[in-house]
Amino acid sequence: MKILIKNGTVLTAESEYIADVLVDGERIAAIGMNLSDTGAERVIDAAGKYVMPGGIDQHVHYSFVYKGSKVRGFETTDACAVGGTTTVVEFVNQVKGKGLLESLEEYKRTDAEGIAMVDYAFHPVMTDARPEVVEEIPKLAEAGYPTMKLFMAYKGQFFHADDEAILKALIKGKEAGITVMVHAENGDMVDYLTKKLISEGKTGAYYHAASRPPIVEGEATSRAIYLAELAEAPIYIVHVTCKDAIKAIKEAQQRGVPVYGETCAHYLLFDESVLDLPDEEGAKFVCSPALRTRDHQQPLWDALNNGWLNAISSDHCGFDWEYQKHLGMGEGCSFADIPNGAPSVQNRMNAIWTYGVCTGKLSKQKFVEVMSTNPAKNNGLTSKGSITVGYDADIVIFDPDYRGIMGVDSCLEGVDYSIYEGMEQKGRPETVLLRGKVIVENGKYTGSKGDGHFVPGKSFGKAYEHL
Ligand code: URP
Ligand code: ZN
Ligand code: ZN
Repeated sequence: MKILIKNGTVLTAESEYIADVLVDGERIAAIGMNLSDTGAERVIDAAGKYVMPGGIDQHVHYSFVYKGSKVRGFETTDACAVGGTTTVVEFVNQVKGKGLLESLEEYKRTDAEGIAMVDYAFHPVMTDARPEVVEEIPKLAEAGYPTMKLFMAYKGQFFHADDEAILKALIKGKEAGITVMVHAENGDMVDYLTKKLISEGKTGAYYHAASRPPIVEGEATSRAIYLAELAEAPIYIVHVTCKDAIKAIKEAQQRGVPVYGETCAHYLLFDESVLDLPDEEGAKFVCSPALRTRDHQQPLWDALNNGWLNAISSDHCGFDWEYQKHLGMGEGCSFADIPNGAPSVQNRMNAIWTYGVCTGKLSKQKFVEVMSTNPAKNNGLTSKGSITVGYDADIVIFDPDYRGIMGVDSCLEGVDYSIYEGMEQKGRPETVLLRGKVIVENGKYTGSKGDGHFVPGKSFGKAYEHL
């Protein structure tokens, strides 16, 4: 089908200009002034609206399990679509006793194919660095998985990785152009502080932040960077939250180390005081790393604007508050039992537009860069992340004049709460195209289960740019 999007303001990571955009089948076929005789079967009037590339959320969890609680899966990805995100990158844990590829292919077949409503790619998570698994790493690149992740935190859980495992992944990954990502928190420090707080009777959700202060993240970030230097390989730090980690990244970049990183919307918009909300509502905000004091927020905006961090993700984790988060609040429980993570994929773009772009903290170009263009490059998604002829027609027609209130009632995330409850929303994705198919009209989901496809990534992504 041919669709002509008329008179919109095209937003890219570099510029903005008024133009028509012609979509032919799954791709962007032409961009120009007053395109005519296009044979379009449908014309969408985008005057007064922004035409931007579909969001790419490079950090989501549709398979995460924390102490027996599992998040909602790909059946809730219509939430991505209405929020303007047309591609997600999911972390898939290597299953105990299985290889990386075997774990990925099985998950893809049973939990994503025919279910996903937006396009998807995967970051394999190495949970067991036995020699045959390390040898398998270069094969990931051939199969379309150009990234992998290890968890420095979560000591005692099967997915925790030690420094040796990270070093092996960095060395082996570099052979095939794989970008190694790490969740950088010192697991031993967290373990020590958690036990100490609990022994002192400090068990409420608020103490989650005290169990993993910024120094825990700063130490692990620095250590990860040193491991990368030793391996002479690039490294990507996920969900950066604090000045300590930013300093380590910035200083490493200045001495030429290829270290990259992202932050997440909630670290920019919330502080740790919400963990102390009454009636156990603090549990809603338990995520790791923890929310910080407000003085860490401006440094995060600065890090994005200076390029020390290059993306804003959601770290979406669809746990229910009542049935799952509350598990950690009962008799004999502590903050350490609360499933880590918060739902946020639907409002990632709305919240950052409202509280980042509309407040002047980010330019519209930076918004496109950190929400879509850079995540595409980080993950080798070479046909996505830009309004460019030949690219996938993943397009958001964004109405900047829309006004609303964010909250669970308008959320499709499949859980019983939203961290953005009651917050003002300025602007919204009005129409969304996924590879040329309209999947959101007038802000409502109109696509179908299975519209989303697996997108293989190319190795030697952005982290290898200057190597
Ligand atoms: O608390 C979080 N972020 N949960 C999801 C898993 C992770 O650490 O990224
Ligand atoms: Zn993490
Ligand atoms: Zn995460």
